[in-house]
Amino acid sequence: MIRNVKIAPSVLSADFSKMGEEIKRVENAGAEFIHLDVMDGVFVPNITFGIKMVADIRKVTNLIFDCHLMIVKPEKYIEQFVKAGADYITVHYEECKENLENVLKQIKSYGVKCGLVINPDTPVEKVENCIPLCDMVTVMSVFPGFGGQKFIPEVLGKCKKIREIIDAKGLDIELEIDGGINSTTAKLAIDAGCSVLVAGSAVFGASDIEKAVKDIRGNK
Ligand code: DX5
Ligand code: ZN
Repeated sequence: MIRNVKIAPSVLSADFSKMGEEIKRVENAGAEFIHLDVMDGVFVPNITFGIKMVADIRKVTNLIFDCHLMIVKPEKYIEQFVKAGADYITVHYEECKENLENVLKQIKSYGVKCGLVINPDTPVEKVENCIPLCDMVTVMSVFPGFGGQKFIPEVLGKCKKIREIIDAKGLDIELEIDGGINSTTAKLAIDAGCSVLVAGSAVFGASDIEKAVKDIRGNK
C-alpha cells in the first residue's frame, strides 16, 4: 500500500482567464504537483497551451511541475520546457516508439525528471525495458485529449504489474495515473499501487477544492 500519495491537479479543467489564482487555490488545498497537459491537435484531437503558459505559471508557484506532452516529436521541445520550469517531463510511448529510450535520456540530460506515458490500450510489455530509466511512469486511465472522461478500470491491472516491477527491482519511481480520477477511482488506483494521482475535473470542478484534494488522497 502506497502511503505517500501525491495529488497532481490538471489545469486543463481550470479557468484559463485566471490561471494564477487557480494555481494558488490548489496550492493552498495541499496539492504537491501541478499537472500541465500540453496538447498539439495532432497527437491528440485537442489543443491546449505550450511553453509560455508553463513559464508564466512558474512565476507564481513552487509546486512540482509535471508536464505531460501530448505532442508529436516531443524531443524538439524538451529544452524549451526545461527552461520554462518543468520538473518532470513525460512523453508517450505511442509517439516515441523505438526512440523512447533516447528521448528519456535527453530529458534526463537537462537535469529534470523524465517519465513515460502509456495509453489505455498499450500493454506494459511494450515499455518494460524503459521503466528503469524513468523517474515516473504514467498509466492513462482515459484516452488522452480531454478532461472529464470516464475512468477505464481495465488499466488497474497494468498499474499492479508496473508496481510489481518497481518494487521487485527496488526502483525509486513514481507511478502516476491520469484520467477520470475522483475519490472513488482514486482508492482503486492507490490499491493498485499508484503514488501520484492526476485529477482535473474532480478538483477544479469542486466547490470546496481543499475537501476534493483530501477526498482524492483518501484522508478521512
Ligand atoms: C487527458 C489529460 C488528463 C486530464 C485529466 O488527456 O491527460 O490529464 O486533464 O482530467 P480529468 O481528471 O478530468 O479526467
Ligand atoms: Zn495528463
